[in-house]
Amino acid sequence: WPYYLAALAFGYLLGSIPFGLIFTRMAGLGDIRKIGSGNIGTTNVLRTGRKSLAAATLLGDALKGTVAVLIVRHLYGQEMALITGLGAFLGHLFPVWLKFRGGKGVATYLGILLGLHWPMGLLFAAIWIAMAAVLRYSSLAALTASLATPILLYFAFSRVQMAEMFVLLTVLIWAKHHENIGRLLTGKESRIGSGSKSAS
Ligand code: G3P
Repeated sequence: WPYYLAALAFGYLLGSIPFGLIFTRMAGLGDIRKIGSGNIGTTNVLRTGRKSLAAATLLGDALKGTVAVLIVRHLYGQEMALITGLGAFLGHLFPVWLKFRGGKGVATYLGILLGLHWPMGLLFAAIWIAMAAVLRYSSLAALTASLATPILLYFAFSRVQMAEMFVLLTVLIWAKHHENIGRLLTGKESRIGSGSKSAS
């Protein structure tokens, strides 16, 4: 088990780098946690109107997950890579540096998935893009794509162990989106491209 713990810690360290917070601060926009939804992720960085910063946040938050699992899979195999992915996800959601108040996990989920099983990663992105294009809710697109992922991993790709881990990640994504779910149900969620909304 010390190896599992080391994989978890390695993933956590990479996952806990808050790219959205770093990039917006570097750009002189102040604290992203005081803007829009208060989240440190791509969707909220987009509310600042800076598309390139949002793209950089998406890349950074996704690639930290991809890099973590690819390094560990190369060195120690698939099972250790799964544990590393879990660590990276927990690092993004609960970074010690931000008093454990991190992001909602969507980009990092995608990055980990691309590293572990790229066809499912592409499918996740396709579902997200299709939902976002039609309904224009980033949160609903993420909720749908993350719900579909463990189901498809299990039934379409027969990756049982991976599906089990992604059930956990999906539950965490949904839990982190509880405020978004409330706003979606009451028709108060902001749509992509509708600009800023007050912090909640
Ligand atoms: O990826 C996060 C997204 O699903 C919701 O973000 O800022 O609207 O709460 P936000």
